[in-house]
Amino acid sequence: MGRYTAVHTHPKGVGDARPTALQIIHDEGLEGKLTGKVIVLTGATSGIGLETARALLTTGATLFLTVRDSLKAKGALAELLTSGRVTLVDMDNASLSSVRTAAKQILDQSDGKINILIGNAGIMGIQQRELTEDGHEFHFAVNHLSHFLLFYLLKDALLASSSPSFHSRLVLLSSSAHRTHRLLPSNNYSFQDTPYVPEVAYANSKLANIYTASYVERQYGSRGLHATPEICGCHRGGSGDVVGVEVGGAGSGDDGGGGGGEGVGGERREVFGGLRGGGERKG
Ligand SMILES: NC(=O)c1ccc[n+]([C@@H]2O[C@H](COP(=O)([O-])OP(=O)(O)OC[C@H]3O[C@@H](n4cnc5c(N)ncnc54)[C@H](OP(=O)(O)O)[C@@H]3O)[C@@H](O)[C@H]2O)c1
Repeated sequence: MGRYTAVHTHPKGVGDARPTALQIIHDEGLEGKLTGKVIVLTGATSGIGLETARALLTTGATLFLTVRDSLKAKGALAELLTSGRVTLVDMDNASLSSVRTAAKQILDQSDGKINILIGNAGIMGIQQRELTEDGHEFHFAVNHLSHFLLFYLLKDALLASSSPSFHSRLVLLSSSAHRTHRLLPSNNYSFQDTPYVPEVAYANSKLANIYTASYVERQYGSRGLHATPEICGCHRGGSGDVVGVEVGGAGSGDDGGGGGGEGVGGERREVFGGLRGGGERKG
């Protein structure tokens, strides 16, 4: 039984005993322990991404945070920017050329050292079928394709930065929605042949996140680059602010947005707990 199993058995909503991201960093003894490590995180301007950035900063790591609106980012992340360890990188997940430009900036400014990549930016509920400038359905492009490309472009740096004492890691934020539909046929990812359904579009993109992480783990795990698909939920306070983040492994949890979800498949697993050295994996 894990440290947090009991407190996830009967969740009571905001402010209950489930740990926040900061609490997990503290419990794992990770404060200041990732000094010199480089973490790339997408979608840090709100929600889970903002809370994740705040928690990761306490580890001492250097953060590259990709944002699509730098003005909003400077406001939302003001307290983090004063640390001198945070670099904002312009990146619109709906544009593959923007992803390429961002990847180049990250590689240049990190001197090719990247230990962790967290694909968090995401959208859901686009009611009408919309295509990106590259011609891809929006959920699929923003939630999956952009992260797949970013990983591909940073892969060599992640592999080169892996060491026996600290394996590299890709984390992709998925959703329990991935279970609700099968992956669309590859010639229909953008609903070319069937009527557009927003829920299916979201589920499709989140299932693609799971498949990507599984593939990366299988393909690169033995070379010290691991991947974790995460099913996440967050507690939002009355103001709508995220006050805690909980993240479960692919076999657990539900979306939990708005009230914190109850794990239905077993123990929750924490992305932060997975960041310890030695390439150690939990769950
Ligand atoms: N909240 C939950 O309970 C829950 C449950 C299951 C899965 N998830 C997953 O967890 C991740 C984060 O969710 P959240 O609830 O924290 O979402 P959120 O509060 O809506 O934040 C989404 C983030 O993604 C960014 N983003 C959206 N479209 C973008 C684009 N085209 N280019 C660049 N950035 C873009 C947003 O930037 P702006 O600030 O500029 O809009 C924001 O930083 C998502 O992948 C979501 O699918 C969340």
